[in-house]
Amino acid sequence: MQIKLNDCSMLLKYNLINQIVTPRPIAWISTVSEDGVINIAPYDFFAPLSSDPMVFAVSFFSKSDGSLKDTFTNIVKTKRASICLCDLSVLKAMHKSAQELDSKQSEAAYFDIAMEVVIQDYPPVPKEIKAAFMCEYYDLLPIGQINKVLLLEAKECFIQDSIYKSNLDFNFKAIARVGSNYLIGTNFISQNELS
Ligand SMILES: Cc1cc2nc3c(=O)[nH]c(=O)nc-3n(C[C@H](O)[C@H](O)[C@H](O)COP(=O)(O)O)c2cc1C
Repeated sequence: MQIKLNDCSMLLKYNLINQIVTPRPIAWISTVSEDGVINIAPYDFFAPLSSDPMVFAVSFFSKSDGSLKDTFTNIVKTKRASICLCDLSVLKAMHKSAQELDSKQSEAAYFDIAMEVVIQDYPPVPKEIKAAFMCEYYDLLPIGQINKVLLLEAKECFIQDSIYKSNLDFNFKAIARVGSNYLIGTNFISQNELS
């Protein structure tokens, strides 16, 4: 099969990436709105681009009503984001937090996700989080009409003391996305098991 991408709908192009570019790392991104609302949502169009400076890319689609995602708006306004990497202990909470809520409603409060500030001046992270990068806005890439791509520069890295080892050989199994399901190590977890 040869698929000419110029002739494809945007949904087909999305689905091709979703099914072929796997497993994808997941950034569970915490931000705080200008009004102080803590927002947290998962993003898997997410990639490390550079290690020095340490820069990550995150790609944002629109909300179902065509408006901007709250995470995007908060980062553009406050210039701060905490990118959490997830293990099995937070899989259900992470999956639930993708529900589209009003921007004035905190996913953390709505889904009862206990949050804590682990590094001052950066958005709080869920208490079970073992690894996170505290980031500042770096750039906005003008790619196409559908996606908005933000570059974020990590300024601090948080690793929970319970897993940290000075040789960095610690046991952290991050969840990845395969299609619309999840992978941890060699275990597939269907999204249907999570609702
Ligand atoms: C695992 C997972 C990964 C996701 N990745 C993305 C993504 O890369 N880009 C995107 O725009 N939405 C993505 N979503 C959907 C958002 O999480 C969802 O729209 C959420 O409501 C956005 O919240 P916000 O408006 O508070 O930022 C993903 C959902 C899940 C469950």
